[in-house]
Amino acid sequence: MAKRLLLLILLRPLFLAILLLAVTVTESEAYSTTTPFQRHKPEKHTHLHFYFHDVISGDKPTAIRVTKPTVTNSSAVSSFGVVVIADNLLTEGPDRTSKEVGRGQGMYASTDMNALTFTMVFNLVFTEGEFNGSTVAMYGRNSVMLEVREMPIIGGTGAFRFARGYAQAKNYKLDGLDAVVEYNVFILH
Ligand SMILES: *[C@@H]1O[C@H](CO)[C@@H](O)[C@H](O)[C@H]1NC(C)=O
Ligand SMILES: *[C@@H]1O[C@H](CO)[C@@H](O)[C@H](O)[C@H]1NC(C)=O
Repeated sequence: MAKRLLLLILLRPLFLAILLLAVTVTESEAYSTTTPFQRHKPEKHTHLHFYFHDVISGDKPTAIRVTKPTVTNSSAVSSFGVVVIADNLLTEGPDRTSKEVGRGQGMYASTDMNALTFTMVFNLVFTEGEFNGSTVAMYGRNSVMLEVREMPIIGGTGAFRFARGYAQAKNYKLDGLDAVVEYNVFILH
């Protein structure tokens, strides 16, 4: 009996230590967890078609130039170094008063010394229909002298989680510095 008691007393700290360890392990938050990825539903392909209104002039611009490069070259065709921040309207039809389907929020920067070419960094934020509240991230090179420019879709949120794809942009109308650009976006999600 005394022997048993002694054993219990001796082992008690061990039990406590094990208990403490168990509590510590369950309470610590896992920094990373990796599991095999299995899609439950087949992947979908969505084609979106809309018009992007880049309005720089007038009293209600949605795209504003935020940089004035210190080194300028008046004979250069590119406005190298210029950065424009935009919250542009996306509409169903080419007219600005046509139904709004979302916003193009982001920036474009002139990053080619010899041609009018922009690096585009945009979130396309949809506000209409089944994609209301979902976004896709578009990032790419926009050489505006080309008739059709292609830019990658590198991700998305909401209905567009795990998105990848591409966007094709084509000028619909140019009016001074303002542009209406037709977009066809193809997304796997
Ligand atoms: C200015 O731009 C022109 C046309 O792109 C180019 O030929 C010239 O070398 C440039 N000058 C300087 C100082 O960068
Ligand atoms: C889009 O979703 C927002 C937030 O849930 C809602 O307020 C808005 O009415 C929706 N728009 C359309 C066109 O369904």
